[in-house]
Amino acid sequence: MARVVTSYVCSDCGAHSPVAMGKCPRCGAWGTLVEETSAASPGGQGQLLRARPGAGEALVSTELAAVTDAELVRFTSGDDEVDRVLGGGWVAGSAVLLTGEPGIGKSTLLLQLAQRAAAAGRYILYVSGEESAAQVRLRADRLGVGAGLRITRETRAATIAAHLLDAAPTLVIVDSIQTLVADDAAVPGSLTQVRDATALLVDAAKVGGSTLVLIGHVTKQGTVAGPKVIEHVVDATLALESAADLRVLRAVKNRFGPSGEVGVFEMTGGGLRAVANPSEAFLAERPHGVPGSVVTAALEGQRPLLLEVQALASKSPYAAPRRVVQGLDQRRVDVVLAVLERRLELPLASLDVFVNVAGGLRVTDPGADLAVAVATYSAVTNRPMPEGTAVVGEVGLAGELRRVSQLARRLHEARRAGHGRLIGPRSTDIDDGYATLKEALAAIWSPS
Ligand code: TYD
Ligand code: MG
Repeated sequence: MARVVTSYVCSDCGAHSPVAMGKCPRCGAWGTLVEETSAASPGGQGQLLRARPGAGEALVSTELAAVTDAELVRFTSGDDEVDRVLGGGWVAGSAVLLTGEPGIGKSTLLLQLAQRAAAAGRYILYVSGEESAAQVRLRADRLGVGAGLRITRETRAATIAAHLLDAAPTLVIVDSIQTLVADDAAVPGSLTQVRDATALLVDAAKVGGSTLVLIGHVTKQGTVAGPKVIEHVVDATLALESAADLRVLRAVKNRFGPSGEVGVFEMTGGGLRAVANPSEAFLAERPHGVPGSVVTAALEGQRPLLLEVQALASKSPYAAPRRVVQGLDQRRVDVVLAVLERRLELPLASLDVFVNVAGGLRVTDPGADLAVAVATYSAVTNRPMPEGTAVVGEVGLAGELRRVSQLARRLHEARRAGHGRLIGPRSTDIDDGYATLKEALAAIWSPS
């Protein structure tokens, strides 16, 4: 019988391609397409279709209205801040990725959380591919934890996955995904290893009902490929970042709760501890009576936080002056600066303008617009912001002040942190509301 090439198949992911290509159409791997052959027969194309995987099996579907609400089974992480970021605690049968730079405190945080879950009598497994059991023990001693916790140095994903199916630990922490291997012959940390190992473990956790937490390192530039390729496989991605001398845990993505939620911690000799009053902590180093420094009542997730926005303006040596922005959306800052120039005739054309959020926090809240405007105005006109005053509001292209969500809660937080006056958009929630940026600026530097 004549041997004919009927299609090509990727040796990496199993995708089929009707034509030979340099790279796999599904997984993008180079040079992995190999010939798939079948004997030529009178059936021709028909036989080929039947030979494909899944051919001849009936597709199963369900009436959408008949689908019952699957209950999420949650259990507390033992830490209120972490529970809030997770949207109410760990979810059984789910996978969470924790990313962060090396040394930020990922292992510390998860060892503490592992201990709290183990203390409740659950089976908790810590998979330590990075550090020896003795090193983890040393850290556990320092944290005063360890009782009831099990540790393994296994790095073969298939072995761990089999254990998840057999023993169904309540919580499994993998430190880190970059140390796992899906295929014994391969080098850990490569893209395919990370992706395949993750797929194996996530599947096993879902079937077995474990909560799987994967630690993934990212560099300062956030470019290590590993965590990026698995972000869409996991249910939630948490990022541990540093801000001032604090640590911020942020839900970047969460299928089971609101994303954008943050928890604030400090690193102490005894591990990470939740910060009770993060607003005070973020404002602790704020200079007083200095032009360009403005306090805003921002929302980070659902939590109001007082933050300092700083601006500096200096004569530019360049024909096109620089706009350097840190911690804020560059395009929003550009809009605010354009509004200051056109609607308030603030002479910015020959000035370099630097704007940043003190402490290195990232803010996506449009309510920070007014703080950017006021800080820049204050810097250019060399007038310091009166003490005890905070601002909030979105700035529109016409120079109007627009309302932002949760004004009442922002005002409450401002008062709690010693900023009795909150200037913002017109609203029944605050006393100092103005229709335009111009009016708000006039109000700030006039006695109230
Ligand atoms: P670690 O959790 O090892 O970071 P990661 O897993 O993200 O790489 O924590 C690293 C730093 O935290 C290390 O420099 C030491 C410090 N640390 C403390 O300050 N207090 C502690 O109780 C512990 C355990 C660590
Ligand atoms: Mg670590």
